[in-house]
Amino acid sequence: MSSSKTVLVTGGAGFIGSNYCRYVLKNHPDYRVVALDALTYAGNLSTMADMQNNPETAPRFKFYPGKIQDETVVNGIIKAEKIDFIVNFAAESHNDRSILDPGSFIQTDVYGVFTLLDAVRRHGVERMCHISTDEVYGTIDDGQFTESSPIEPNTPYSASKAGGELQVRAHRITYGTPTVITRCGNNFGPFQYPEKLIPFFVSRLIDYKKVPLYGSGQQVRDWVYVMDHCSGIDHVLHYGVTGEAYNIGSDCEKPNIDITHRLLKLLDRPESLIKQIGDPRGGAHDKRYSIDASKLKSIGWKPAYNFEEALESTVRWYLDNQSWWRDITATSDYQQFVASFYGKYLGEDL
Ligand code: NAD
Ligand code: DAU
Repeated sequence: MSSSKTVLVTGGAGFIGSNYCRYVLKNHPDYRVVALDALTYAGNLSTMADMQNNPETAPRFKFYPGKIQDETVVNGIIKAEKIDFIVNFAAESHNDRSILDPGSFIQTDVYGVFTLLDAVRRHGVERMCHISTDEVYGTIDDGQFTESSPIEPNTPYSASKAGGELQVRAHRITYGTPTVITRCGNNFGPFQYPEKLIPFFVSRLIDYKKVPLYGSGQQVRDWVYVMDHCSGIDHVLHYGVTGEAYNIGSDCEKPNIDITHRLLKLLDRPESLIKQIGDPRGGAHDKRYSIDASKLKSIGWKPAYNFEEALESTVRWYLDNQSWWRDITATSDYQQFVASFYGKYLGEDL
């Protein structure tokens, strides 16, 4: 891209949002990045410190604390920073937390999306890319999700994401708001909050703690390295057709038990550290996700990372950046969540 743009990245202090900020600063040297984040339990200032402290990126990176559902904050930033693009990552993002506390998911993942759409319309923002998820499709036994698969979410989290993207669709149709949507599978990589499968298990295995595998461990997830997700989003932002949704995936389906064995091997830990527990998600535990990304590939995107190498480098990152995640696992919020969600399953192995 040649012309200079200013991109508002909401959720920029979280896992994928911060990696997307890095991606833009590196791949669009003439772009400015403005991050907006409410710094919930999942957002950390330390996650953006590398961009703020690097003299090459600092002049093109700015952070605002605030909620996407706060229209004063959102409208103020768009005006003050002359925002061209919005990429919306801000969300409550964890299925297990949505089982404990579904209400906060509606506030951010539905009402917050509405606030952004309203601001895009008012200020003539050039384009908003809304980051959705493959979970809006629900579960699939055979075949793959395409963009025309039915929207059949099964958890409070995925239903809130579906509600958000239906707002995007409605604003596009009703007001002509310039939007695109992406739907990706399970991401992994640096800076992922240690409540999701891979960083939760890696952080526990480093300390020789048992890892709670839900049910049979045969549920299948379609894994994507975070930088492939970021390049896919960036491709949709620049080349996607307005009003369309695009799946992002790299054909990498793995059962959870397989991921667990790979992590044990990479960290040289014994099989006895796996604790198969009941299934805390019960009937809401989707059996399989599988993404057909051919629509995005047909407009010129392809994934660049090899799963095995990316997983190994991710494990290495968690070994090399223990202060980042240990500061999180030491918080009372984290400890309370782990105790309340896993206590009855892990008992003395908590
Ligand atoms: P995350 O939980 O790591 O980060 C979310 C960020 O949003 C945090 O920094 C948090 O502080 C911020 N936030 C929460 N509520 C906010 C609000 N009201 N206003 C402003 N900021 C707020 O999540 P993630 O894994 O980085 O996911 C980012 C987005 O990508 C989400 O929309 C998620 O649904 C989607 N997604 C995630 C995955 C995945 O595997 N992690 C896959 C597909 C799509
Ligand atoms: O598919 C995209 C989605 O992937 C995103 O929209 C979500 O934001 C993201 O959290 C992720 O959702 P999942 O629920 O699939 O991810 P999670 O890492 O929580 O779980 C992955 C699988 O591992 C799932 O089948 C449940 C299982 N699991 C998870 C945890 C945390 C376990 O067996 N034990 C665990 O302790």
